[in-house]
Amino acid sequence: MNEPLVRVKKANKTFEEGQVVALDEVSLEIEAGSFVAITGPSGSGKTTLLNIVGAMDVPDSGEVFIDGELVASGRELDSIRARKIGFVFQMHNLIPVLTARQNVEIPMLPRPLTSKERRARALQLLDEVKLKRRAESSVLGLSGGERQRVAIARALANSPPLLLADEPTGNLDSRTGDEVMGLLHEQRERVGATLILVTHNEELCRGADQHIRMQDGKISS
Ligand SMILES: Nc1ncnc2c1ncn2[C@@H]1O[C@H](COP(=O)(O)OP(=O)(O)OP(=O)(O)O)[C@@H](O)[C@H]1O
Ligand SMILES: [Mg+2]
Repeated sequence: MNEPLVRVKKANKTFEEGQVVALDEVSLEIEAGSFVAITGPSGSGKTTLLNIVGAMDVPDSGEVFIDGELVASGRELDSIRARKIGFVFQMHNLIPVLTARQNVEIPMLPRPLTSKERRARALQLLDEVKLKRRAESSVLGLSGGERQRVAIARALANSPPLLLADEPTGNLDSRTGDEVMGLLHEQRERVGATLILVTHNEELCRGADQHIRMQDGKISS
């Protein structure tokens, strides 16, 4: 059998000096190219799980492998993220003082590209999300849906094999939400990326190859 793209083995994560158990012995495997939906009540550990799968954080104990690479503190989490992962956050997390183009360029900064190459790639991505004409606008002037599209362009900047999206449509009307989901799925189909989606919306889970339901820091099914 092929090595799964993501392998989590008995991950534990607590906060507040152990008072809050966010992840409780979570194990999972995710195949390359699949679409995985994660649902569960507020506080059940979905974002915490996504953060460790995305090398944003490490578990207190247990192991996480991305593409066969062990993700552990002290290792180059930044480098794993830059090479392997695109993250779309619930609140988009764009840098407000920068333009749309500059935000899209951020994940490319650690790579050996010239500023001209970075700029060209950012403009190409903004064109793909239909925002090229707003490339030089401050993100403060963009609507919620437009900001989320900039966030997707940023997540795709390095063509990552793993796309993580935490409630990417949470603050959008249903039509804009559908557009944003369409962009994520399109990318998955085009380059064979894996998409892990955290959502409260059961409808967005349709067609998922794997549906992970979280409850009290555990996978309930
Ligand atoms: N940095 C932190 N400091 C303290 N507690 C935290 C931190 N991050 C998460 N937690 C706690 O861990 C638990 C799981 O949080 P998490 O954000 O993973 O939930 P979630 O399933 O994403 O919830 P939601 O649907 O509301 O986004 C919660 O009880 C939360 O309060
Ligand atoms: Mg969350």
